[in-house]
Amino acid sequence: MRTVNCYSNYRSLVTGVDTKIPLINGQLTTAINLDNAATTPPFLSVLKAINDFSSLYASVHRGTGYKSQYVSYIYEDSRRIIADFVNGCPEKDSIIFVKNTTEAINKLAHHLKAKFQQSVVLSTFMEHHSNDLPWRRHFDVDYVAIDSKGRLQLEDLERKLLQYKGKVKLVAITGASNVTGYKNPIHKAAALAHQHGAQILVDGAQLVPHAAVDMKPHSSPEHIDFLVFSGHKMYAPFGTGVLIARSDMLEGAAPDIVGGGTVDIVTPDLVTWAELPHKEEAGSPNIMGVVALVAAIKTLDGLGMRTLEEYEKALADYTIYRLCQLRDIEVYCSNDYKEDRVAIVPFNVSGLSHHMVAKILSYEGGIAVRNGCFCAQPYIQRLLGISQQELEERINQPKAERPGMVRISLGLYNTISEIDALVFQLNKIILNKKYYLEKYSNMPELF
Ligand SMILES: Cc1ncc(COP(=O)(O)O)c(C=O)c1O
Repeated sequence: MRTVNCYSNYRSLVTGVDTKIPLINGQLTTAINLDNAATTPPFLSVLKAINDFSSLYASVHRGTGYKSQYVSYIYEDSRRIIADFVNGCPEKDSIIFVKNTTEAINKLAHHLKAKFQQSVVLSTFMEHHSNDLPWRRHFDVDYVAIDSKGRLQLEDLERKLLQYKGKVKLVAITGASNVTGYKNPIHKAAALAHQHGAQILVDGAQLVPHAAVDMKPHSSPEHIDFLVFSGHKMYAPFGTGVLIARSDMLEGAAPDIVGGGTVDIVTPDLVTWAELPHKEEAGSPNIMGVVALVAAIKTLDGLGMRTLEEYEKALADYTIYRLCQLRDIEVYCSNDYKEDRVAIVPFNVSGLSHHMVAKILSYEGGIAVRNGCFCAQPYIQRLLGISQQELEERINQPKAERPGMVRISLGLYNTISEIDALVFQLNKIILNKKYYLEKYSNMPELF
């Protein structure tokens, strides 16, 4: 295990790190947020950018007034900044603003349905539901296998691509898992997909905020054809997500949502669609969300994604090391520090439900973690080794708790001392299970 500084130099960049919240005993404590995979608090730079921009706020694309023209310029120029951040190609890619990753994947699935008729989408068993259900809706979907520790099996991707003999037109794969934190070898997967006549979508919701991402040039076999991510997971929680897509795959076709902004000409009998990316952005654009995302990207870029990656990796290694030392804890990801991962660690405490552990951490320690299946039920089922029959039996028992885990997910502002506080609380829970079980069995929710 590598060592890491006790203090994060990044704490002052984020809002809410000193917020006091009440514990169950009435005392106030500084809130510890270990639930960054769900959403991150805003950067101060993001709030400042929003505030500064407010005095120039006006409608995008629709006015000749000074402010409106300025705002339209800022909105359009932000596509270039976003493309630069992940080495996209503005000449060949469309950078489309949506609400979030989920909407981006649904939009892409809508378009590819027409382009890739009668084909198969290869997804994986480690996907978030948002990178599974949109494909199920429109395509035959098959899933690349994972190993016993939940890691993607690249050999199975190759095997399946061969088996389908060119019928697979898209590989839809997560860049980093929101459950185990594993980073997938996206460029190797891209090379394999392209070799077999398929394209590749990378779900970047957990990757783009925590690692340097390079889509690579279109001429490279390792090029990423489609990339999606959400602003609210990268310190810009103002409702903007991004779809970066090969323009040739979206051109000409009717958009998934129609209305203002999507059209060039409309008569009672005729509609012609606007150019990309505009035809894909129905209604008034979320300029504040875009300003926020650009401000977050500038801050992240200024800090250096590789530096952040290293800091967060060291935090993850330390967390896994400390958790593995505790008795009665099962960690559901590999504890090898050589593993390529973002800082997400799933675990359970034997004899206590995931919900109970998360609740006690919150009420006793002011520590926010997530519990449940994290919108990745097929992955959790496999990691927990639960058969289909067992799962159905549990679901059908009215009072039985659904299977799940507790998840710690770290951001750049988290510290070693916060992980120590978590381990301290967990240790107390483990040593006093009976006491906490009685105390929390009928404890109501806070609000
Ligand atoms: C890997 C992954 N993909 C997709 C999503 C969906 O993101 P959003 O809720 O921003 O649409 C999430 C959200 O947690 C995620 O972790």
